[in-house]
Amino acid sequence: MKINRRHFLILSAGVAAGCKTANDVGTPATQDERIVNAGPAGNYAGARVYSDFRDQGFFVVRQGDRLFVLSAICTHRKCKLAAEPDGSYYCKCHGSTFDSDGRVTRGPAKRDLPILSTQLDNQGRLIVKVPPG
Ligand code: FES
Repeated sequence: MKINRRHFLILSAGVAAGCKTANDVGTPATQDERIVNAGPAGNYAGARVYSDFRDQGFFVVRQGDRLFVLSAICTHRKCKLAAEPDGSYYCKCHGSTFDSDGRVTRGPAKRDLPILSTQLDNQGRLIVKVPPG
């Protein structure tokens, strides 16, 4: 399902009010999920990791034709990750590392970083569903 402006406003209002609503991927939103407007997808044309939304829990990643959003929260004990210049990710808390696709390359983390649900709205903006965390 594509989100139009009306849906987005309803989602935002519902999430802000703590209501369960339908979300961009057609599953119920929980109270702690957040819908974040990451701005025009065209802002992410260059191949690299965009850390602008790290404090909101995610990185926007452009790899060639592929645009995806990766959690910025370590799967070990939920510290925020740092994006390294080579496109990998590092956790300063206990030293876990993840490759450019979010796969664990060094523990103690055992689980890969999740790719977050996204949608483009009717104005070409990247809408990200951020899970509780
Ligand atoms: S919280 Fe990241 S390695 Fe422990």
